[in-house]
Amino acid sequence: MNWKQIHTIDGVKDYFDDELDKKIALERGILDAIRKEGFRRIETPSLEYFDVFSNGGNVSSTSLYKIDDKDGNTMVLRPDFTPSIARSAVMYFAKDEFPLHICYKGHTFKNHARYKGHLTETTQIGAEIIGKEEKADANILKVAINSLKDAGVTNFKLNVGHARFFKAFLCEAGITENTDKLIELMSGRNLFGLIAELKALNVKPQLIEIIKMLDEVYETKEELKEASVKCDNFPILKVIFNELLNLEDELTSLGIEKYVSYDLGFVGQYDYYTGIVFAGYVPGNGTYVVKGGRYDNLLESFGENEPAVGFVIDVNLLLDAMNETEAKASKEGYLTFALGKGRLAKKTMEFLEELGYTCEELKDEKTRKLIFTNEEQKTRFFLSKGPDVPTYVEYGAADIGIVGEDTILEEGRDLYEVLDLGFGKCRMCICGPESAREILDKNARIKVATKYPHIAKDYFYNVRHQNVEIIKLNGSIELAPIVGLADVICDIVETGSTLRENGLVVLEEVCPLSARLIINKASMQTQHDRIVELIRGLNGLLEK
Ligand code: PRP
Repeated sequence: MNWKQIHTIDGVKDYFDDELDKKIALERGILDAIRKEGFRRIETPSLEYFDVFSNGGNVSSTSLYKIDDKDGNTMVLRPDFTPSIARSAVMYFAKDEFPLHICYKGHTFKNHARYKGHLTETTQIGAEIIGKEEKADANILKVAINSLKDAGVTNFKLNVGHARFFKAFLCEAGITENTDKLIELMSGRNLFGLIAELKALNVKPQLIEIIKMLDEVYETKEELKEASVKCDNFPILKVIFNELLNLEDELTSLGIEKYVSYDLGFVGQYDYYTGIVFAGYVPGNGTYVVKGGRYDNLLESFGENEPAVGFVIDVNLLLDAMNETEAKASKEGYLTFALGKGRLAKKTMEFLEELGYTCEELKDEKTRKLIFTNEEQKTRFFLSKGPDVPTYVEYGAADIGIVGEDTILEEGRDLYEVLDLGFGKCRMCICGPESAREILDKNARIKVATKYPHIAKDYFYNVRHQNVEIIKLNGSIELAPIVGLADVICDIVETGSTLRENGLVVLEEVCPLSARLIINKASMQTQHDRIVELIRGLNGLLEK
């Protein structure tokens, strides 16, 4: 028998017995909670024209499952509900039915990179308010909160940010060009990196003060108000604070303000958001269980100019979050660090020790123990191979990681990269024998050996616009051009001695590298104060 006859494909799973019962009950609980609020149910097809998602969608084309029909049309398995709902709202509902309150349940599909542990098919339940409605943001948050409560989730908070906050900031600062790097630093929550860039651009100190407060989370109206005072001289930013202060009033009148906190450093993931954005996490779990936001321009791409706000609950992630496991229980109350083994390890430990985070056991080179706990400080540490650090952090198995930038770039994980730690400095370079310079310059199709195929591909395709054959190796990359396996290599150069001793040279520099502090997105919310204290402490050491 062929193994494919009996196995499911990567990223999908069969549900049966208890687990299926739990899933069905959870889905019913959420849907009933939404329906109770008067939302109409809609079912849209799993298969849609590619155009529905290419026009204002948020999932990269490579993450879509595409299928061609017999007439040559490209269709996709929906990766996300919102564009489908926007399309159907425009198609089927008359203007006088707006604001529409609709909800849905169904499967979404994403074509993830292999072996990353992401689900390909997930069950999502969501609700949308489409059309103008007073207090729609507060109402949609109420529905999201009630859905989670009715589903039996007790310990959660929704983190509310604003998709326009950083754009408004750039506007106030008069920065209109070359914003990509600034946006990247903001999305990675690297505030100190961002501040350095803004200072270099001579941004007013008063505006820099506003960036400094983006690592705060505001729980009450008073805190939010106090922060908003700093924006008194900046009318575009003030509008956003006023929006959030209004929202807080509306949530208070609904009696649900305790479930919401405000985090202006949270800018949301999708391009189509235009107002509030929110995500909800359950402590002990590395990923969101609910996310949503306002998207006032999306319907325009389907021919109707209507504002909208909505949310989606990921049932699979929620089921997982509600599943109490021993590993999760052992994490509770602890801050867990994943540290890269090898050249960065010693310096990392020295750095943490200087801040008072100690773990003597970790220094014992003979031990075979893998995880070390400091009971007094409520911290846990483990060492892993560098490329595994971002994986542990993305899934929340560790809250914090310290690892080289090369690994983060190569792994492309979904996490916050909050601080450049300045040590472990080296460069990613294209190297080879001096004679390879000529073929590199000729733009010929060359062979590139590397431990970093994504970085190499990105450099040759997006920067050099050159076709290359990439050969993945696992170490001692310098051997490849010497023995004729490749023309050049894409590899780390630190002191340059490996190159020198083997008659090779740096032909081009791809990017500088150093150690980075990375944070799990959910931990940033659930362990906020301890993590911010650590980031500020480490930055303080860097400034010494
Ligand atoms: C790295 C890198 C180079 C070398 C560069 O290898 O891949 O081979 O260090 O350092 P240098 O410029 O100071 O000579 P590493 O020691 O991590 O081992 P590996 O090649 O087996 O991965």
